[in-house]
Amino acid sequence: MKITLVMVSSIDGRFTRGNESDIHLWSSKEDNDHFTRLRDTHSLIVMGSGTYVAIRETLHLSEDKLRVVLTTNPKKYINKSVENQLEFSNETPKKLVEHLSKRGYKKMLLVGGPRLASSFFAFHLVNELYLTIEPKIFGKGNTFTSKTIIDADLKFMSVKKLNKKGTLLFRYSVH
Ligand SMILES: NC(=O)c1ccc[n+]([C@@H]2O[C@H](COP(=O)([O-])OP(=O)(O)OC[C@H]3O[C@@H](n4cnc5c(N)ncnc54)[C@H](OP(=O)(O)O)[C@@H]3O)[C@@H](O)[C@H]2O)c1
Repeated sequence: MKITLVMVSSIDGRFTRGNESDIHLWSSKEDNDHFTRLRDTHSLIVMGSGTYVAIRETLHLSEDKLRVVLTTNPKKYINKSVENQLEFSNETPKKLVEHLSKRGYKKMLLVGGPRLASSFFAFHLVNELYLTIEPKIFGKGNTFTSKTIIDADLKFMSVKKLNKKGTLLFRYSVH
């Protein structure tokens, strides 16, 4: 399974602006276009429950896309679950990847948030990272945090300037 993580950050490494949950209030249209392109080329999307809660009002389910939400309490979301479209799981990232591989999925797009991303990095499961840096500084907001030590080696692949104000899209491979 090829696992790609896509995230957008401020210059000071914040994945949210303070306590706001909607990242589209500060991320650029060009970053959103890039995200949409990636999302449209993946039939398997995995997110943490924090991200699901932030986007659930605007989430459009479809038969050709499975979204999996990781949570320690899947029962809480039982009435939202739609088989093969929106599933809730408390499997470890490793078990989840094994199980979804057996179901025939070849690639996975991880769309955050930071806690989920940290847990996949801790298991050395991320193969590729798209990181957009918006030219902003927030001071407060969610960072890449984890109770587990992460020791990931990344290799720079490319950088692209997405707009005039200098939003940068980095691509890394992860070893
Ligand atoms: N800047 C970006 O690129 C970006 C991307 C996505 C989201 N966000 C923003 O980030 C915010 C959410 O942040 P967050 O840190 O709460 O993010 P999150 O990673 O979406 O959610 C964390 C929650 O997901 C569950 N979870 C994560 N990893 C798990 C694992 N391995 N096993 C079981 N459960 C796991 C836990 O849920 P339970 O508490 O339910 O057990 C945990 O509390 C939102 O405001 C969202 O808009 C930013």
